[in-house]
Amino acid sequence: MASIRVPQLSDLVGDTDVFFEDYFNRKPMIRLGALKSDATELLSAEMLDELLVSDAIRPPYIAVTKSGELVHPRTYTETRRIQRDTITDAVIPTRVIEHFKTGATITWSSLNHYLPHIRQLTRGLSEAFGTRSDAVGFVTPAGRRGFKPHRDSVDVFVIQTEGTKDWLLWNPSLQRDGVADWYSLEELGEPDHRITLQPGDVLYLPFGTPHCASATETTSVHLSLMVKSRRWRDILVDLVTEAVSSDLRFAGNPLLDPENEKFEIELRSAVEALSGKLSAVHWRDAIRNLRSMPHAGEGSTANDFFTSQMAADSLGASSALRRRTGAHVSVQVDEGASDGQLEVNGSTYRVPRAAIDLVKRILDGETIRIDELDGAPNQNVDFARSIVRLEIAEVVGGSD
Ligand SMILES: [Fe+2]
Repeated sequence: MASIRVPQLSDLVGDTDVFFEDYFNRKPMIRLGALKSDATELLSAEMLDELLVSDAIRPPYIAVTKSGELVHPRTYTETRRIQRDTITDAVIPTRVIEHFKTGATITWSSLNHYLPHIRQLTRGLSEAFGTRSDAVGFVTPAGRRGFKPHRDSVDVFVIQTEGTKDWLLWNPSLQRDGVADWYSLEELGEPDHRITLQPGDVLYLPFGTPHCASATETTSVHLSLMVKSRRWRDILVDLVTEAVSSDLRFAGNPLLDPENEKFEIELRSAVEALSGKLSAVHWRDAIRNLRSMPHAGEGSTANDFFTSQMAADSLGASSALRRRTGAHVSVQVDEGASDGQLEVNGSTYRVPRAAIDLVKRILDGETIRIDELDGAPNQNVDFARSIVRLEIAEVVGGSD
């Protein structure tokens, strides 16, 4: 997994300034031969073979669509014992294969939930767009159309990874409501673009772009990266939620009775207070806040907890520590006390004074070599280990 070259946004779209200026939110972008690395590293028929028999991938992570309709999972799942539990939707690979042989498209939803390199890919997109993204894998039998013509409510990057697929695209209308919908070929008329995607080709479809695709004479494997749109209505809801949630002025509980005349006065004053608060928001802070909301990174989070525990075990006197990003730490020490209290990510710990002093320096942004600390070397290494295990600091180089 480590050797897979995970594409960045610029690998998909080329010059990102041009992309955001001319294509993002406006019109489809077709980039033939965009990927310089082997597209099958991202998703291949071989990987899908593995996933099909993995036993752990169950609906809704796998789905079967035939003639544009979702096939009921009951037709390809069964009840099975796993350890001491019973699951009712274990995939029967031969049944899925049977559906495929009779023309079904098989989709693997949210691949970023279970393939680490795909999660790395969607994380890059979530960071670039400040919003959630997900990956779906599709395998379509030769000559078959997977879905009826439709538009999606999300922006989509298509990466063809094996085989070829024909696409019909219609430019999105300027006024788009962001709702997914189905069409007939007749009502769409002549397509604006007809293209055949080969492995390594990338296609960008802004939300609301009508499209349909069919595999050509070969079996087709492609990856669709879905970037959730964050329209003004979503942004305003987020900003208002943020503005009202921790403000006591909005904590009242008015009586919702049509005869309650005080309601109008109180409502007007609440709306005024809210409007004043929203007008005072600094727009750069607002963007930072919107980007850091948990739902913006959902499905693409990174984790290095166990690796950091190993790093704590192997650190030595020549190691250095620096503040770990994302840790919420507060320190409390009473005057003259021999120990103090640390609150880390919501949990409280009592630790010796010397360790508290070390934590304070790390929180102030210092990078500290353990062998430069006063006090007994063994004790300093112990403090350092505890601070790393508590996820306050990370180890920078050096080991025993
Ligand atoms: Fe679609």
